[in-house]
Amino acid sequence: MADQTARRIAPAKGKLGVLCVGLGAVATTFIAGVENVRRGAAKPFGSLTQMGTIRLGKRTESRAPLIREFVPLADLKDIVFGAWDPVPDDAYAAARHAGVLDRHEHLEPIADFLKAIKPMPAVFDQNYVKRLEGKNVKAGKTKRELAEALRKDIRDFKAKQGCDRLVMVWCASTEIFISPGPAHWTLEAFEQAMDANDETIAPSMLYAYAAIQEGVPFANGAPNLTCDFPAIEGLAKAKGVAIGGKDFKTGQTMVKTVLAPMFKARMLGVAGWYSTNILGNRDGEVLDDPESFKTKEESKLGVLEYILQPKLYPELYGEMYHKVRINYYPPRGDNKEGWDNIDIFGWLGYPMQIKVDFLCRDSILAAPLVLDLALFFDLAQRAGMSGIQEWLSFYFKSPQTAPGLYPEHDLFIQQTKLKNTLRYLMGEAQITHLGIEYYQDA
Ligand SMILES: NC(=O)c1ccc[n+]([C@@H]2O[C@H](COP(=O)([O-])OP(=O)(O)OC[C@H]3O[C@@H](n4cnc5c(N)ncnc54)[C@H](O)[C@@H]3O)[C@@H](O)[C@H]2O)c1
Repeated sequence: MADQTARRIAPAKGKLGVLCVGLGAVATTFIAGVENVRRGAAKPFGSLTQMGTIRLGKRTESRAPLIREFVPLADLKDIVFGAWDPVPDDAYAAARHAGVLDRHEHLEPIADFLKAIKPMPAVFDQNYVKRLEGKNVKAGKTKRELAEALRKDIRDFKAKQGCDRLVMVWCASTEIFISPGPAHWTLEAFEQAMDANDETIAPSMLYAYAAIQEGVPFANGAPNLTCDFPAIEGLAKAKGVAIGGKDFKTGQTMVKTVLAPMFKARMLGVAGWYSTNILGNRDGEVLDDPESFKTKEESKLGVLEYILQPKLYPELYGEMYHKVRINYYPPRGDNKEGWDNIDIFGWLGYPMQIKVDFLCRDSILAAPLVLDLALFFDLAQRAGMSGIQEWLSFYFKSPQTAPGLYPEHDLFIQQTKLKNTLRYLMGEAQITHLGIEYYQDA
């Protein structure tokens, strides 16, 4: 039953512009996918906003509307797309290059639509993505000038497309590892560092800065340091803009955040967890560079530490050996194969093993996440929820949290958090799973 405290949410009227930073495999699979779905040519499997339902009230009430009918999300028909990329290919050429979607079934029928999406010149610097070269790149004397040029792009896109609202999603390559430093503490220091072309200011940070300054929510799909430091978090709060990240949780890590809670729930020990991948897309090529890999490695390694809590359970997880490898192997293209070997132990210490061989498709798993993030960030913005959107942890390998809070990595805790946030927004009772009321006399 509604508890009368629903938040005020501005209606999803007019067009929603989704600006993708990067027009590679993930972004084109997302864009082409949405267009195929809009034309009735395919189903949006993998998307919670499009397929998911939400239980409301007691189990005896049989209320389980579709999420998109429960909360006021933008309709797919109202989405328009924009992108930046240092590679000048339009969305059709980029999708062909990525080789994810079937050319005849999902690209040719919408070729004109895709060809009309041409990437704007990017803010790109090879020092941050070593394995890429870009020609479609903005020139500017300072990083501040480049950020201002991005702000102009955002305003021009909005006006030209007649958008009511925008969201921006980083779907671009993984940048090199950067630790937060003095330039990231305050907005003043950050802006001075932009003027001074400080090397700790990466291109992704300029996109985040530009988006927030323009009041556009920003989600980071890659593991780079982008909107997860005090200067940007403070700016987002001050400007009333929703932000979050980072690193789409798609294949191996999604599986990890389901299996690890199972071991912990049953007090089974883990002696070692070896994860290795082969993939042959451009992302794999970029991650072949040790500095970009380090950024990804940090993101992938963190989850077990948080879920298994070795300090709390030293006998079960204190000695765990955790290794993650990504190997670039061109023949596989986007069809990644991820193997996990997990050495566990149970009653009296007897060892057991679990092997997972996930033959997945990277961008097929990531595309629906981009859609959900775009729609939920737009919802958050319209609901006046500014700053870090921890309730969207469900989508990220390294969820961004308030300072001092550890992230929740367990996929089903994240799902509960997400759905309870939707209930909260709409003034519905939280579901605690206590259930005692079913066994008490009236
Ligand atoms: N697919 C997945 O399952 C998955 C999961 C988690 C994270 N990611 C991350 O998502 C990102 C995209 O993956 P992908 O497979 O589409 O990679 P991709 O290499 O196919 O596409 C990335 C695109 O970003 C462009 N780019 C690089 N720097 C840019 C910049 N400064 N501005 C604008 N564009 C820029 C590149 O030219 C390229 O076209 C990667 O960082 C990847 O690590 C993907």
